[in-house]
Amino acid sequence: MCGADVNRLREITARHGQEHVLRFWDELSENQRRTLAEQIASMDWTALEKMKSVLKNKAAAPTDAIAPAPVENPSESETTTARNEGETAIRKGQVGVILVAGGQGSRLGFEGPKGCLPLAPITGATLFSIHCRKILALERKYGSKIPFYIMTSPSNDATTKTFFDQNSFFGLDPSRVMFFMQGMWPALDEHGRLILEDKGRLFMGPDGHGGILAALRKNGMLEDMTRRCLTTLFYFQVDNPLVEIADPVFIGLHRLKGADMSVKVCAKRDPDEGLGVVVLRNGRHAIVEYTELTKEQKHERLPDGRLKFLYGSVAIHVFSLDFLRAESERELPVHVAHKKVPFCNADGKIVKPDKPNAFKFEKFIFDALPDAKVVVNYVFKREDEFSPVKNSSGADSPATAQADMIAKFARWLNAAGWKVPSDANGKPKVKIEIDPCFALGPEDLKRKLSPSWKIDGDVLLA
Ligand code: UD1
Repeated sequence: MCGADVNRLREITARHGQEHVLRFWDELSENQRRTLAEQIASMDWTALEKMKSVLKNKAAAPTDAIAPAPVENPSESETTTARNEGETAIRKGQVGVILVAGGQGSRLGFEGPKGCLPLAPITGATLFSIHCRKILALERKYGSKIPFYIMTSPSNDATTKTFFDQNSFFGLDPSRVMFFMQGMWPALDEHGRLILEDKGRLFMGPDGHGGILAALRKNGMLEDMTRRCLTTLFYFQVDNPLVEIADPVFIGLHRLKGADMSVKVCAKRDPDEGLGVVVLRNGRHAIVEYTELTKEQKHERLPDGRLKFLYGSVAIHVFSLDFLRAESERELPVHVAHKKVPFCNADGKIVKPDKPNAFKFEKFIFDALPDAKVVVNYVFKREDEFSPVKNSSGADSPATAQADMIAKFARWLNAAGWKVPSDANGKPKVKIEIDPCFALGPEDLKRKLSPSWKIDGDVLLA
């Protein structure tokens, strides 16, 4: 790298008050210099200026003037009509599935992409396997093709793809599984300065799942969806093994109402549960993230005792393709979180901070909601569809997700007429696991129920 190039780097960084990132330049190897130069060249300086202004104004209250949003609790006949509409769309091949799996899973403490976490109660099938087998089962059930779009990030893209390769795409046709990468953003210190993670490298992290809008456009995914004649996209997060992928009722409601974006919601477990709540702000739909709701708002109750902001989003959405396309041209707001980020200090030593030292920035997909003209907030049965893996133990951990999977499968078996032995609290005494390709619900099970099924130890063998 020649002197003129370095001068150019110094000029760019100085223009944005970031010249400190070159302080170890003379000590760097040629490779390190190239990496750092590339990071500086590809930095989104406009976004960086926006982050700095977010940092300055972070004291501003973001949640004033909000009211609870209306929610849909369809009747039995509305549910049937919606299911028919959703199933028809799937059969016609108009429905695609989007999975966001670019996060770092830092709370879980699992090395590698969260989707590679072994989770199924008996076989230890991974989250990716559970999701893919559901899509495969749906393709077989409806005799259609369901394209699957998976968002990764530069930090987990290669590992994720290798994992799919090693597992033969879990039975899916690889030509219908599309991977695309979200963008990366830097973190800033309290003075708005970029952070070096070592002498020759800037710290960068995924730009939040809202990064999907730009990523879909930049990676040609919107064109791919158009080419495959999709109109409706089902969206979910990697961490929830109970998700009913491409739920026809949800898809049907969204389409029958002519919605742009729809949200699955459930009553919060308790006022402090980490769910974003659905609200109206100045007559527009929005989700206010749990970290941004005030304590008073979290706990406020109506005269009948129910929480005022009761309904939380579990990050399961349906989008119309036209809306995704329009949103991909717009800028989403930037959110900030104070986190611990290891850094290289002025002496060139790597420091692991014991308290938050850096601001990380993210875009959230649900910030597209205010642009949606029609939104359906559909209330679903939480115990059947939501049990995320967020923490290594306690609430929302692999242990609770497994227990909830077993309980769901036990309800299916009982509904199909097979009595699952349970304890005094109704908790199944056996481990149960049902492969999605064997049954997608109690109706499928009923058809397959056999007197030869037996319990062996604490395992039900089918
Ligand atoms: C999220 C939602 C919250 C919702 C809850 C339900 C946000 C900000 N909040 O909380 O409203 O009620 O889930 O479980 O989303 N991801 C990416 N790229 C990123 C960041 C995340 O793909 O840059 C993916 C992750 O892989 C994961 C999902 O988004 O699949 C959720 O991310 P996470 O940080 O775990 O969100 P939560 O704080 O748990």
